Amino acid sequence: MDNVRKIDPVVPNRELIEEASRIINGGGTVAFPTETVYGLGANALDDEACKKIYEVKGRQQDNPIIVHINDFEQLESVTQGLSGKMREKFERVWPGPLTVVLKKRNIGLVPTAGLETVAVRMPAHRVPQELIRRSGKPIAAPSANKSGRPSPVYASEVLEDLGQKVDLILDGGASSFGVESTVMMFKGDEIVILRPGAFSAEDIKKIFELRVTISGDTPETPVSPGMKYRHYAPEKELFLARSEEKAIEACREGNVLFIGSSELADKVGTESVVLGSRKDLYNVARNLFPSFRKLDRSRYSAGIIESFEEKGIGLAIMNRIAKATGGREVK
Ligand code: TXA
Ligand code: MG
Repeated sequence: MDNVRKIDPVVPNRELIEEASRIINGGGTVAFPTETVYGLGANALDDEACKKIYEVKGRQQDNPIIVHINDFEQLESVTQGLSGKMREKFERVWPGPLTVVLKKRNIGLVPTAGLETVAVRMPAHRVPQELIRRSGKPIAAPSANKSGRPSPVYASEVLEDLGQKVDLILDGGASSFGVESTVMMFKGDEIVILRPGAFSAEDIKKIFELRVTISGDTPETPVSPGMKYRHYAPEKELFLARSEEKAIEACREGNVLFIGSSELADKVGTESVVLGSRKDLYNVARNLFPSFRKLDRSRYSAGIIESFEEKGIGLAIMNRIAKATGGREVK
């Protein structure tokens, strides 16, 4: 466990930030907490360092990485910038769990997988903020899981997936959202959400005052390269139950683990992983990825997961469930 260090998420220890910054500037990798999930970071301006991210995660080379920044000056340094009006909007949403794809500038082929664009976000977590500030570098960071596994919400999950292949893992406790950032791009006068996430589509619409479409809604919308891979998936089989009745029946018939709300867990009569109340979807989101890992560690060969309302963060929850089940449902 020699590469794991506990760090205060509110007032990050200076020496630790110093040590992590040295690693970043020396071309190494550091895993750190963010408000969404843990990230696996390297200097975004160093292609060789970014290559290590792909190696450590076992990530496909054609899947670009989000670049984390700390201010608008840095945004200008890695992108072709935003119009004045749009910048005002981003001043309202950042720092936070929203990523935007823009035309790139001064940034290598590796983190962007050779695209003309770069995905950027300003995280609302003191640890990456201090790390970017101290190292003076934008930090490229995908989620810190082994490729294809659920994103890590805890440092212990980073260790479980990546072990000693990372130079340093900063353990700042649980990530507060538990699902990744929302990835959006501008297309003409519209916003396309390439990946639903912690920042709700409703809030994007309200703040940007533009038409918002979710990628996949129409055949011609561009798809984020990462969305084509099997993702967030447990190793065991997982099935979605669209109604209470279906969940109860599937749990009665099979030797399965139930994953769902406290409301339904009381009714299914089988061992359950409770995600939280249906009335608090933020809590459900936080417990979702860890529940997939629990299923894998359990004695069951399959799981049944309940369906949630696709409102607010519920859209991201249902998107991740669809990825994890591979579209399988109980009849
Ligand atoms: O919350 C998050 O976004 C976390 C934390 C660490 O910031 N990061 C994260 O990164 O989830 P990752 O690499 O697991 O997912 C990034 C997504 C992928 O689906 C990728 O294809 C997409 O963003 N993406 C990155 N650059 C892109 C680009 N230039 N154009 C379109 N999609 C892009
Ligand atoms: Mg990921």
